Amino acid sequence: MGWRGILGFEYGIVQAPLGPDISGPQLVAAVANAGALGLLRAPDWESPDYLRELIRKTRTLTDKPFGIGVVLAFPHEENLKVILDEKVAVLQTYWGDCTPELVAKVHSVGVKIVPQVGSIESAKLAIDAGVDGIIVQGREAGGHVIGQYSMPIPFNFCMLLIADGSIPSFILLQDSLILLVPTVVDLVGDRDIPVIAAGGIVDGRGYVAALALGAQGVCLGTRFLATEESYAHPIYKRKLVELDETEYTDVFGRARWPDAPHRVLQTPFFKEWRSLPTHESEANQSVIGHSTIHGVKKDIRRFAGTVPNMTTTGDLESMCMYAGEGVGLIKEILHASEVIRRLVEEAQLIIQQNIK
Ligand SMILES: Cc1cc2nc3c(=O)[nH]c(=O)nc-3n(C[C@H](O)[C@H](O)[C@H](O)COP(=O)(O)O)c2cc1C
Repeated sequence: MGWRGILGFEYGIVQAPLGPDISGPQLVAAVANAGALGLLRAPDWESPDYLRELIRKTRTLTDKPFGIGVVLAFPHEENLKVILDEKVAVLQTYWGDCTPELVAKVHSVGVKIVPQVGSIESAKLAIDAGVDGIIVQGREAGGHVIGQYSMPIPFNFCMLLIADGSIPSFILLQDSLILLVPTVVDLVGDRDIPVIAAGGIVDGRGYVAALALGAQGVCLGTRFLATEESYAHPIYKRKLVELDETEYTDVFGRARWPDAPHRVLQTPFFKEWRSLPTHESEANQSVIGHSTIHGVKKDIRRFAGTVPNMTTTGDLESMCMYAGEGVGLIKEILHASEVIRRLVEEAQLIIQQNIK
């Protein structure tokens, strides 16, 4: 399939880090063993000992390289030290500045750095900072969607819109992959910085479409969420197979992670509350369940932004369930290796059949 990933993986396929702890050692090792790049997810709080254990556990399951995703908007300096000390192959960053200083620090220990961006402006900054690859996230993506920015609607206009409770208090400006990818590819020019497309891709057709836009690889979240090895709760996995529609919203996790739009499954709970008034957030809601996240027991409040993992108990049907636009094409829970095998075989077939 041409490009073999920044470390010479067999395929240009990346498994997105899935927060809070859905892409754990089992999934990441399964992806790495199948020839693609798997990304663990670091905790959103400083937990260096736990993180070192997570990395070492993954190494007991695979001898292939893998990476780890860090959300820069949350405390991460101590976690970063462990990632660099353990020389994990790739650091993926999200929601924060991938500065030249950070890139230099990561490169100084031989680790590669690949930010996920959602705008032309952030892509430019990443290119100038000297990153090793760029994941370009379109608005089709599941989970948080970084995009360009959210523009607050002027107060009076906002009051009018909210009167019928149907529109959030900001206008969201996120582009689709069909525009973002070729634009970033042109920006990169002849520099050796692979562009990796993320958002709504679940099969070989999406893979080839991304290649046609100029991407060298693809990054999939939702498809790997719906695998045997992901740490998502079985009820969440079942919903990914049963439900077809998603929505771009700001209903979940407003208190903990403000101004962070996300794409979720249209579950019955979400449909009932999609017009949640802007002053509401998980902060003033009741506890509807519990999860152990990265080894720490947490209360889950209604409208929290944490998806149900294997340990979650309580009213799971009322919890946030992130998913990308491609979810309607997911018909079964597969092993991660099977996802990768099908992606490659389908893509190869499409290319052979269509290009003479
Ligand atoms: C459950 C879930 C959790 C996610 N958590 C993260 C995360 O912690 N860090 C990150 O960079 N991206 C995260 N993403 C977004 C992915 O990196 C990626 O952009 C997205 O999954 C691509 O779209 P797709 O889900 O349609 O494949 C998450 C996505 C999902 C579905």
